[in-house]
Amino acid sequence: MIQRTVLTGAKLLKRTVGSSLYRQFASGHREIPALTKERYPVKRGQFAEVTDGDVSKFKSILGGSSRVLTQAEEIQGYNIDYLGSVRGYSRVVLKPKNTEEVAEILRYCNGRKLAVCPQGGNTGLVGGSVPVFDEIVVSLQLMDKIEKIDEYSGILVCQAGCILGTLEEKVNEKGLVMPLDLGAKGSCHIGGNVSTNAGGLRLVRYGNLHGSVLGVEAVTAEGRIMDLMSNFKKDNTGYHLKHLFIGSEGTLGIITRLSIFCPTASKSVNVAFLGLESYDAVKNTFLAAKRGLGEILSSCEMIDELSLESSTQHFNLQSPIDKYPFYMLIETSGSNVAHDEEKLTTFLENSMEEGIVLDGTVTNEPTKMRNIWKLRELIADSLINDGYCFKYDISLPLENFYDIVLAVRERVGPLATKVTGYGHIGDSNLHLNVSCQKFTPEIYKLLEPFVYEYTSKVRGSVSAEHGIGFLKTKYLKYSKRPESLLLMGQMKQMMDPNGILNPYKVLPC
Ligand code: FAD
Ligand code: MLT
Ligand code: ZN
Repeated sequence: MIQRTVLTGAKLLKRTVGSSLYRQFASGHREIPALTKERYPVKRGQFAEVTDGDVSKFKSILGGSSRVLTQAEEIQGYNIDYLGSVRGYSRVVLKPKNTEEVAEILRYCNGRKLAVCPQGGNTGLVGGSVPVFDEIVVSLQLMDKIEKIDEYSGILVCQAGCILGTLEEKVNEKGLVMPLDLGAKGSCHIGGNVSTNAGGLRLVRYGNLHGSVLGVEAVTAEGRIMDLMSNFKKDNTGYHLKHLFIGSEGTLGIITRLSIFCPTASKSVNVAFLGLESYDAVKNTFLAAKRGLGEILSSCEMIDELSLESSTQHFNLQSPIDKYPFYMLIETSGSNVAHDEEKLTTFLENSMEEGIVLDGTVTNEPTKMRNIWKLRELIADSLINDGYCFKYDISLPLENFYDIVLAVRERVGPLATKVTGYGHIGDSNLHLNVSCQKFTPEIYKLLEPFVYEYTSKVRGSVSAEHGIGFLKTKYLKYSKRPESLLLMGQMKQMMDPNGILNPYKVLPC
């Protein structure tokens, strides 16, 4: 039975979920992972090691010692990723404030053959954001200036270190929304989002960042500042170089500034949370939602029973409906409250009459919408709390979308605490998660390369939205042909001849 909560004049929905997981390493709540070089077979490249002379040079570039971190306890958080899956042992973290400082750092590091790891909010899920060995961390944390929000054009211009959630608040004040939204918005940087071409919860509506990002400014490995900023949607002049930096995960340059198109905020937002009997019902409901809701569909997420159990139990949340094998979270965003409600109601009534949706609740009340979103957004954090979580972020054809969860569940049996599937079904993106008490080679070998071989057989993508980072480099070949890998290698060689930018990431070593 659909329950409906209607409040007129619904406010913009602001999700505030962030992550404080790394603080848990420091407080001893989570086990510090093994060093990457010990857990994985990887060999340090022929890079120089940081000397006292280098540290002095960095201090002179950054005007003193406060933005050059060298103390072990202040550096630890920059060496471990959010998942606790990789750990480097960098001895230096640099915090530039502007593009010129980034350029000077890279020029110097390139000359000295010192390897560098660019870092944003360190919420990445593929081990790309932390050093593998002793690479110097260049943190964009202090590059957090918003330069301009133009309510007429919808264009935001800012530095790369701005936190996504902060940008969302600021553009909301001008009647706009960010074109992307993720559970990590409280910590991730817009520069990190662009560098990973992050997807998230709104992609079904606004598309990916290759479309929304109008321009970037980036510094190449040799310290050259590439001004590829643009304030126009239309600019067909020559090769579209900005795209090289979108999604290249800090291997081709450090993004320092960007301009991004922010759509107008919707006056009417609704969230529906539905219970369903089977994956087939989920698939059919998605089709019905696309057909029935059309242009107002702004999110379409799938959650399986175990995923919801994980977020509700761990965070003591209440599901607004009874237990079902599957759930869907559907959000609409439009400009006409009555029109949107009518569309949503008709879609839901039809889906229930046909028996594909068994139960549901709909709301446009901000607190209730936020609480429903929490059920979905906190799944990632809750699974990590089982101890360790193997995460697979894959694109799969909708007809085979959920089968892999069942196959993996059978394969790993009692070695796993939970094998769950959730994700952005609206974009054919499944998050297959295998949580367990701790990382063991035994479970790792059962999962990899199995998951990637399976994905490749159905011509899926081994990384739908999280990127390749360090953890997936050897699996890139399952989604990219040899000619593409060759060209990528040639481009890397041309743009970073000494290979100093985020080595061991993206391309197979
Ligand atoms: P980091 O983790 O610091 O870095 C990520 C990569 O980008 C690294 O390779 C790093 O070297 C590089 N990098 C960072 N900043 C720069 C820069 N300025 N210039 C060049 N390279 C740079 N991802 C999704 O796509 N969709 C989701 O829905 C989603 N939800 C998430 C939910 C949670 C709870 C968590 C923890 C993560 C989620 N992620 C999601 C993954 C992650 O948040 C994204 O990949 C995000 O874009 C990373 O941003 P960041 O600033 O934390 O980057
Ligand atoms: C999500 O959609 O919640 C994120 O991509 C994180 C995850 O994969 O758990
Ligand atoms: Zn996701």
